[in-house]
Amino acid sequence: MAKRTLITSALPYANGPIHLGHLAGAYLPSDLYTRYLRLKNADVIHICGSDEHGVPITIAAEKEGISPQQVVDKFHTRNKDAFEKFGIDFDYYGRTSSETHKKTSQEIFLKLHKQGIFKKKTEEQLYDEDADMFLPDRYVKGTCPKCGHPEAYGDQCEKCGSSLSPTELIDPISSITGNKPIQKKTEHWYLPLGDFQERLEQWIDSRKGWKPNVTGQCKSWLNSGLTDRAVTRDLTWGVPVPLPEAEGKVLYVWFDAPIGYISATKEWAVKTGNPDLWKTYWQDDETELINFIGKDNIVFHCIMFPATLMQHGDYVLPTNVPANEFLNLEGRKLSTSKGWAVWLEEYLEEFEPDLLRYVLGTTLPETKDSDFSWNDFQARVNGELADILGNFVFRTTSFTQRFFDGSVPTPKNLDANDTKTLAAIDDQKKRISKAYDGFRFREAIAETMNLARIGNRYFTETEPWKTRKSEPQKCANTLYVCTQICGALSLLFEPVLPQKMYKLREQMGIPHTASWQQITKNLVPAGHIVAEQAILFEKIEDDVVEREIQKLKKKSEAAAAPEHSFPPIKEETTFDDFMALDLRAGKVLKAEKVEKSNKLLQITVDVGIDKRTILSGIAEYFSPDDIIGQSVCVVANLAPKKMMGIESNGMILMSEDSDGSLHFVSTDAEPGSPIT
Ligand code: 2FM
Ligand code: ZN
Repeated sequence: MAKRTLITSALPYANGPIHLGHLAGAYLPSDLYTRYLRLKNADVIHICGSDEHGVPITIAAEKEGISPQQVVDKFHTRNKDAFEKFGIDFDYYGRTSSETHKKTSQEIFLKLHKQGIFKKKTEEQLYDEDADMFLPDRYVKGTCPKCGHPEAYGDQCEKCGSSLSPTELIDPISSITGNKPIQKKTEHWYLPLGDFQERLEQWIDSRKGWKPNVTGQCKSWLNSGLTDRAVTRDLTWGVPVPLPEAEGKVLYVWFDAPIGYISATKEWAVKTGNPDLWKTYWQDDETELINFIGKDNIVFHCIMFPATLMQHGDYVLPTNVPANEFLNLEGRKLSTSKGWAVWLEEYLEEFEPDLLRYVLGTTLPETKDSDFSWNDFQARVNGELADILGNFVFRTTSFTQRFFDGSVPTPKNLDANDTKTLAAIDDQKKRISKAYDGFRFREAIAETMNLARIGNRYFTETEPWKTRKSEPQKCANTLYVCTQICGALSLLFEPVLPQKMYKLREQMGIPHTASWQQITKNLVPAGHIVAEQAILFEKIEDDVVEREIQKLKKKSEAAAAPEHSFPPIKEETTFDDFMALDLRAGKVLKAEKVEKSNKLLQITVDVGIDKRTILSGIAEYFSPDDIIGQSVCVVANLAPKKMMGIESNGMILMSEDSDGSLHFVSTDAEPGSPIT
């Protein structure tokens, strides 16, 4: 066994709630493995947290009409809570907006910068003139140059999985304004991955026990030759690049996010009262670092982050990156934008966590994409958890209570079948352990359930309801053997069913501190009084799963509803925030189109106190002549903003109909009148 293990699970973006796909990709596997190692009394910590930077966050903020900070604050808390309720046993759940993280990622960037490793390059990048910003990553969509998919993002094509850069897209379109972007020069820092090619190849070749889907993807990257990868972006949201000449630039989210594992470990160490403890996990060669991720994260964890760590020199590299493939839902690709998802929070309102832990665990997409369906959920809960495991525990404990006053009987003269069945505990334990060690969690769970199957079969074969009268010692032996299997199951199933097995251990009188080593064929002593317990697993009725299927369909229909339905009400604001806005009546004096822009009108507005220039993105809806003399409402104290080289001083209020048409918000009051 490793001296110590540092387990990380991919930091989920704090831009939305956790769904079943997330759980099956990284979090359930990492938790199964952590709990298995904890049972073995291994030195192990499990680290995760929110990924709070990058374009996914800013796009979510724009969509919801709130700030990126509000988005991440909301989802950090929600996701942390949901994981906890689901029994994901993190030692620490950090966030990449923390000061520790900013400092840690800036230090790592600066060390690499001082080593002279980055290439500084000025290159043409896509730029949206109306929005006045560069369009990195997901801010641009277009046709994938590799497979022709028309909706590829600037950083990745979700159809063929290729990693892209925005300028490679055919017919790119800005996701902010829908404009065709122009190319504009900008300066960035690049990690020359090509220089790491040989070292990465050797390192990956030296890794043992990696899953073929992971090495396969790495090989394909390496075979096509690694190239320079920008580690900075022109954005305002993120960790600022710690160089004076890089004002207005932040670290690329995929540069800072994996460093989040380190910063979260630092924060965990502080919490334990030993601030230097993080170093033992990150800087001692005897640590095994295991990164649990989904397949879309492979390149970052197996190429980019290792290259960064190799260059830095102070940190351990991952021992294994057991990435999973994707989980589909009811035979369709899971998609949050299409409403085809089951959110963890939503699940937890209806069902117990352990049921999903088991069902997802048996269908993890370990070697290829797999599918979750509500009917399969019902079938496995009813047919496996209730009929096999629950039934076996119930038969054993209720028989002991009824006919042995609840006391585990003393075995005597065990026959060959009894001995063979008891030996199955150790056999299964070995099988289960081997499967966990090889990151084959489906197999580990199936082998654990097989022990309950063995127990059931044995109970049926030995017919204690008959031997009770004819051969009482034989009956006692049967119940002794069955109780030992129940005891073993209460530990062997702990990683998968932590809440249920906690109850079973209470019933069996097994201390919660009991470890893997203590799982033997005589774990529960004769004479122990088996406590009464409610049934472990209730069956799920047909109408319950039908309701879930209908719920899913409704969500998907709502997401497919015509685009011009009204947006949701924004987050609550305060009276003071509203009062801070200075709204005034105004009148349009002059209007003209802004050269080279399809969207912008340059409008001169009389707002009583002054006459000012306001740029408004309404050129596709109104011609300049149509709006001269129009009465308008103006946000008069908005900070000036430059677009296309012209300064805009305020905003004209418009309302958008459900069909997308625009209307002025007008007033009869004279220009300058405050609107309150
Ligand atoms: O794919 C994602 O959800 C990323 N936020 C994962 C980041 S993993 C690590 F690098 F932090
Ligand atoms: Zn593609």
